[in-house]
Amino acid sequence: MALVTGASGGIGEELARRAARDGYDLVLVARSRDRLEHLASVCEADGVTSEVLVADLETGAGVEAVEERIVCRSGERPIDVLVNNAGYGSLGSFAELPLAAELGQISLNVVALVRLSHAGLPGMVERRRGGLLNVGSLASFQPGPGMATYAATKAFVLSFTESIREEVRGTGVRVTCLCPGFTRTGFQARAGVRGTGLSGPTWQDAAGVAAAGWEGFSRDRDVVVPGILNRAAAAGVRLAPRALVRRLSAEVVRGLR
Ligand SMILES: NC(=O)c1ccc[n+]([C@@H]2O[C@H](COP(=O)([O-])OP(=O)(O)OC[C@H]3O[C@@H](n4cnc5c(N)ncnc54)[C@H](OP(=O)(O)O)[C@@H]3O)[C@@H](O)[C@H]2O)c1
Repeated sequence: MALVTGASGGIGEELARRAARDGYDLVLVARSRDRLEHLASVCEADGVTSEVLVADLETGAGVEAVEERIVCRSGERPIDVLVNNAGYGSLGSFAELPLAAELGQISLNVVALVRLSHAGLPGMVERRRGGLLNVGSLASFQPGPGMATYAATKAFVLSFTESIREEVRGTGVRVTCLCPGFTRTGFQARAGVRGTGLSGPTWQDAAGVAAAGWEGFSRDRDVVVPGILNRAAAAGVRLAPRALVRRLSAEVVRGLR
């Protein structure tokens, strides 16, 4: 079975569809019951079963409900693949943004991801199969002035995921970090994005991003950056002076306002 967080839309919904196409039965997690139930019925038509698990992963109770499903009581089928995809960002200067949403991003993008990974990984290692697909971002590779907290949470996701991958090497468990660039989803509305940022070719659609991520995970890739321009950007960041990277990054984010 595959459990996908943030499956009610965007990249998570497309990742769930990919998993279903590969024959995985699903546990679909998010806050929007209607959207999850609709996706469940679509995936069931593909011949897989789907459980809907409504949970707010910014809350301790929401994470606990999903942890319980992952840890798996007797009679429940184990989760082979955990996709930690749910996440959001907020656009603006840190000093001016409401603190609640900044802390909310840390709760969802970091704390929930760590807790669910911790719930799932021991069983995978014991069974010597399955894996984690964690969703980072192109923002994982550099600081993000104008989205400071978001970029920091995604830097955490990349570092954490790469470390876990090394720790489980040789156990048969796969661990991959999917790092999308600009992708047209509900993310922009929630983050308060109004501008278009970079030019058209830098934008991708959720289905393409999910296809690259799922394929990379299936092939046991460490880090997947969909799109050649995004891969060039991620590589350039490693070579360029940090001060220059910060300034360019601030320019790009300014274009989204
Ligand atoms: N779009 C981009 O440009 C982009 C670029 C790089 C990385 N990413 C990353 O890709 C991932 C998916 O984002 P997306 O672009 O597909 O955005 P999206 O369309 O807004 O989807 C976000 C998903 O997360 C769920 N979610 C949000 N808050 C939640 C909460 N408190 N508890 C449980 N689920 C919650 C949403 O469902 P409900 O609202 O129903 O709860 C939705 O299913 C995120 O981690 C994001 O950071 C996106």
